[in-house]
Amino acid sequence: MAMNYRVGSTKIVILKGDITQQDTEAIVNAANSSLMGGGGVDGAIHRAGGPQILEECKQIVARRGPCPTGKAVITGGGRLKARYVIHAVGPVWRGGEAGEDELLRQAYLSSLDLAAERGIRSLSFPAISTGAYRFPKDRAARIALSTVAEYVKARPFEEIRFVLFSDEDLQEYEEAARAVFRRHGLSPS
Ligand code: APR
Repeated sequence: MAMNYRVGSTKIVILKGDITQQDTEAIVNAANSSLMGGGGVDGAIHRAGGPQILEECKQIVARRGPCPTGKAVITGGGRLKARYVIHAVGPVWRGGEAGEDELLRQAYLSSLDLAAERGIRSLSFPAISTGAYRFPKDRAARIALSTVAEYVKARPFEEIRFVLFSDEDLQEYEEAARAVFRRHGLSPS
């Protein structure tokens, strides 16, 4: 079961699933600054993609140091269906007064820019920062959807997926989508 919208020429899909199984050209990882892996979706992507991904992350950190919050780096996809993994570092929720909203928006923008720079046409996002980093789900969903909707109006993609891991998260995103896309005069197709 998925919810589809079209923003200009970009297809936006909201679905429940496992991001490691998505066949978009790139998938986004909810990483931490060390880029050395972790639990949650970070652990799942490294497990499914294999050691090559961590090797590339180590080379990036050796060259450029840790990835700041709000920024992202790109590696190959290893054994994944996706050709690329974009490792985005979202903010830890600290109550909402430490610039978390803007840092989360930056994590999405950094991911979109990296994909656009490489001519990547399809991309899957997890619900960045809403797990271990404890960002409120409904707030994160609105930031994610509005940031992507704004971006693709100027720089379209073929398809952008929001891949939720639980029914609860899917519901949060569907509710947020109705609110965000109504502002853009859009309804699910
Ligand atoms: N596919 C899609 N979504 C998933 C998957 C998966 N296979 N596994 C987990 N998720 C979801 C979680 O349910 C949550 O909604 O990804 C969302 C983000 O949760 P986390 O993975 O905990 O990421 P985040 O909250 O951004 O915390 C990042 O956790 O794993 C560590 O190394 C990571 O330190 C970093 C921190």
